[in-house]
Amino acid sequence: TESKLQLVHRHIRTYPDFPKKGILFRDICPILKDPATLTAVIDLFEEHVRKNHPQVDLIVGLDARGFLFGPLLAQRLGVGFVLVRKKGKLPGNTVSVEYDLEYGKAEAEIQEDAVTPGQKILLIDDLLATGGTLHAAIELMKKQQAEILGCMVIIELKELNAIDKLKPHSVFSLLQY
Ligand code: PRP
Ligand code: HPA
Repeated sequence: TESKLQLVHRHIRTYPDFPKKGILFRDICPILKDPATLTAVIDLFEEHVRKNHPQVDLIVGLDARGFLFGPLLAQRLGVGFVLVRKKGKLPGNTVSVEYDLEYGKAEAEIQEDAVTPGQKILLIDDLLATGGTLHAAIELMKKQQAEILGCMVIIELKELNAIDKLKPHSVFSLLQY
């Protein structure tokens, strides 16, 4: 029978030259369209966290596709979920950090009181490319004095070597391209 990982792999579509020429875009929309595959993704993340980070206090999700998977995982684990958003979307006092994307520039922002100093957090997103986005989120977590346990993504694009950029923080990925 097909493994959970094979099921996930079969539900990632690839689009050449999106959103710019030269980018091979990995699309996770088919995962969300199939309930069994979405369940498999959350199962695999849950197994990883229960085995390696059972002490986690909070799941921190990255705008926008980290929001699709993070709350489902957080609810499974019985912990809270916090949003790292693109700038200008969050009310109240916020902290922000600028970063480079594989195809542009952006600024990540979090509410000042989102994380209590010392809380143990795991970051989640759909995909790791250059690592710019996760790096910015890690900077925000450091400003909040969170204890960063690690990062989780469905897909790691290996040729961009983002793992080095994010050291000493670990990145768990379900699939590598
Ligand atoms: C994509 C992806 C990751 C990030 C990865 O999001 O969902 O968040 O880029 O790239 P990086 O490792 O080079 O930083 P994008 O910024 O396109 O925004 P979206 O989630 O709002 O579509
Ligand atoms: N696919 C989806 N999202 C992305 C990619 C990609 O190849 N690169 C940066 N964000």
